[in-house]
Amino acid sequence: MINPQSHSASQSAVPLKQYLQERIQLIEETLPTMLPASWNVPHPLAEAMLYSLMAGGKRLRPIFVLAACESLNGSPATALPVACAVEMIHTYSLIHDDLPAMDNDDLRRGKPTNHKVYGEAMAILAGDGLLTHAFFTAAQAAKVTGVSADAVLTIVEELAEYAGMRGMVGGQVADMGGEQGLTTLEQLAYIHHHKTGDLVIFSLRAGGHLAGANAHQLDALTEFGFKLGLAFQIQDDILDVIGDEALIGKPKGSDEKSAKVTYPYFIGLEASKQEVERLTAEAKQAILQAQFPQPQRLLELADYLMDRNH
Ligand code: IPE
Ligand code: IPE
Ligand code: MG
Ligand code: MG
Ligand code: MG
Repeated sequence: MINPQSHSASQSAVPLKQYLQERIQLIEETLPTMLPASWNVPHPLAEAMLYSLMAGGKRLRPIFVLAACESLNGSPATALPVACAVEMIHTYSLIHDDLPAMDNDDLRRGKPTNHKVYGEAMAILAGDGLLTHAFFTAAQAAKVTGVSADAVLTIVEELAEYAGMRGMVGGQVADMGGEQGLTTLEQLAYIHHHKTGDLVIFSLRAGGHLAGANAHQLDALTEFGFKLGLAFQIQDDILDVIGDEALIGKPKGSDEKSAKVTYPYFIGLEASKQEVERLTAEAKQAILQAQFPQPQRLLELADYLMDRNH
């Protein structure tokens, strides 16, 4: 399933574009192998789970797990199970986010949303299946890849913390309660930090734990993720207004349609773009101030996300 020899940590000389292609390929080859083929799963649950999981996407969160691990000279192979786990959590959150009871969107990752293909009940259950299986998958880091049980325990605990009620789920709840005219910009920052930022922080910290990061390095990864996660969601808000639907693979104008509070709603497009630039610069500073053996890739990723059009 995982070949520890295939991707060495000494890849910082490789251009970012090639790095991303290689890592995405590695993640996409590994993801389906994480659903045990021998399990008897009722039809079409596994199919519905794989439909969204394998529909593409930027694979940003698993790349952060790998890149953070590599920035501390860890091997990407040992980070793969946790990388796959966070992508399962993220994909489940997208399936549920698109449901009629939430954002009611018909297109995701360039394809009809899960509930459009499999119906609402199966989409809810496919999300539940991915959420639960993420924890099985993270555990494989100890079972298959030889990561210490202590490190995996910390990662599993943090996955529950950052993805759950005080993290992403809490952020989604706050997002649902957001109302134009009532919600403040400060409350919007809370929404963005939690619905999006927390999974970014988790991914970076998990990569750090896998590579034996010290407390100072973990703090830097947390700060980097906090700033970058907010910048990433502001850019998502911006692309909802000015993005190209064919590139973003989801409907434009979804926030406007649902009268969502967003950064462009509060401060306009130009100031939102400036905010993304400011937060990205601050995020990079956090990494530069800590002692990372190979910080370059994380810094490149920050710049890449600031300029993204999808
Ligand atoms: C979309 O995330 C939802 C947000 C939290 C902004 P991504 O923009 O990372 O979506 P994919 O994984 O590339 O489809
Ligand atoms: C979604 O935020 C965040 C999560 C799924 C946790 P959005 O609702 O802005 O994401 P998109 O724009 O639908 O991808
Ligand atoms: Mg939403
Ligand atoms: Mg949405
Ligand atoms: Mg959005």
